[in-house]
Amino acid sequence: MCGILCYLGKRPALPILLEGLRKLEYRGYDSSGVAIMEGGEVFCQKAVGKIQALEANLAGVTWQGSGGIAHTRWATHGRPSVENAHPQKDCREKIFIIHNGIIENHQSLKKQLLSLGHRFCSDTDTEVLAHLIEEHYQGDLEEAVKAALRLVEGAYGIGVICVDHPEEIVVARKGSPLILGIGEEEVFAASDVSALVSHTKEVIYLQDNDVAVLHASGYNISNLNYDSILRRTQQVEWDVEAAEKQGFPHFMLKEIYEQPEAVENAMRGRLIEQEGISKLGGLDGVHDEFLGMERLMIVSMGTSYYAALLGRYIIETCTDIPVEVDLASEFRYRKLNIREGTAVLAISQSGETADTLAAVQEAQRKGALVLGMVNVVGSSIARETDAGVYNHAGPEIGVASTKAFLSQLTILYLITLALARHQRMSLSEGQAFIAELKLIPDKIRRILDSASQIEAIARRYHGYKSFLYLGRKFNYPIALEGALKLKEISYIHAEGYAAGEMKHGPIALIDENFPSVCLAPRDSAYEKMVSNIQEVKARNGRVIAVGTEGDTDLQEICDEFIEVPATDEILLPLLMVVPLQLLAYYIARENGCEIDQPRNLAKAVTVE
Ligand code: M6R
Repeated sequence: MCGILCYLGKRPALPILLEGLRKLEYRGYDSSGVAIMEGGEVFCQKAVGKIQALEANLAGVTWQGSGGIAHTRWATHGRPSVENAHPQKDCREKIFIIHNGIIENHQSLKKQLLSLGHRFCSDTDTEVLAHLIEEHYQGDLEEAVKAALRLVEGAYGIGVICVDHPEEIVVARKGSPLILGIGEEEVFAASDVSALVSHTKEVIYLQDNDVAVLHASGYNISNLNYDSILRRTQQVEWDVEAAEKQGFPHFMLKEIYEQPEAVENAMRGRLIEQEGISKLGGLDGVHDEFLGMERLMIVSMGTSYYAALLGRYIIETCTDIPVEVDLASEFRYRKLNIREGTAVLAISQSGETADTLAAVQEAQRKGALVLGMVNVVGSSIARETDAGVYNHAGPEIGVASTKAFLSQLTILYLITLALARHQRMSLSEGQAFIAELKLIPDKIRRILDSASQIEAIARRYHGYKSFLYLGRKFNYPIALEGALKLKEISYIHAEGYAAGEMKHGPIALIDENFPSVCLAPRDSAYEKMVSNIQEVKARNGRVIAVGTEGDTDLQEICDEFIEVPATDEILLPLLMVVPLQLLAYYIARENGCEIDQPRNLAKAVTVE
């Protein structure tokens, strides 16, 4: 997704901006650009493709200007091209703008601007904003930006510079994240802390309708009506190292290996063993409504949606609370019967997923108690929900979500425990639940220790064109997640199914060229899974089974066997997903895929 970075200070801006763009690469992008203010002019360069392409275009450039803006674009309006890359500019090439988000009324605005004589060079909605600012510019950049924004419908995070104001950058946000970084005689603005954290840890999270005017010596924040606004500065906890690969070839692999800690961090300080309960501080403010909820609706997308599906199984298993799960993008199409006692939980690693945010807003309009579970502190969903729980999984850079998923599952277990102990779970059951949960990180470490076996399987299977993933009960969402991991990073067709559904269609696909990954731990669905495996084998299908350590019976009927340590059936998903992540990773690596930034994908999908 698009990334924004602005710099104003005493140092040459270009290297700082290019370094920052690299930090934003993980978000996914198709083109990039930079504009630097120097000697009464603005120099701009753009390129399609990777940052290296932009750097190549900048070879030999000696711009020393100490203010500028930079952008990585992920196409929404107009194909990826140099013309459509940002910065976009006005007719006179005085005003340059970078923008994340979508100007929804861009077509009608463009019509008006064309009739006023403006000439357009791109297909972007952003260029409309550049001309709109130009139309209102009478020597005061801040005023022109505000006048333009008053006419705009949609979402934006923007950075604007003007040749006439070499000491100033105007930034604004509405519905798209923007963070100020405050340094010594320098100031930054970025869509993501990772772009500025190597320079300063002092940040301000701008909020919707904030407009900030940046100078090297400081900043002023106000709204569109010039009411001045005070925003708290905060210290970023992430360090640069946390966002680097630490010796792993890919962020995804590093993050898979960080999962034992991700699970520990999600539990840290949240379990009271003696009482057999969990305590989620972020829900303190809504304690009674949370524990007294009569119905729960969970909304999320992608991997977070699969976490939600597991949430439904485990909460309904341990409590009397009915749980509904929706893809956030479909939530608005339902006739929602939200009554008193209904809680809505939004799950999102990034906290910026547009569909999930829209579902949060819809649930709020309907009067539900709206809770969030997010990883990125200060993100839009974190701010817009009534209360919530942070994952504390640390930055997840790989586009394919791994450690955030394990962390989401862990917190869903903690939520389940809190609700269940308030209802029918006994003290001793609660204590046993906690004891078993605490063993999970070490069991994940044991699975990671056997990664080379999974690597060998990947070498044997990376050439297949399609895979079927089958699971039942608690491991049905894990089958869906395993298939998603494979398809998003290796581009191999993979389908996840509830194993019981296999005979209702997918079985027609099974032959020697269509392997099945079957999740068959020794749980209450084991016998039925074994039957499914035999059905696959009877049709010459190859089976990669993930089962319980030492299950030689299963091993005998499968082509490949990956074992996971035993645990309570309800906690098995925390273990079962790990081999599937590794399998997807090694298959993608064998096939030479770009693992951390798969094609067409973005880390945070901030458009609906
Ligand atoms: O940030 P979120 O958890 O809201 O993101 C939701 C999905 O976009 C995300 O899980 C996506 O499916 C990942 N690429 C999965 O690996």
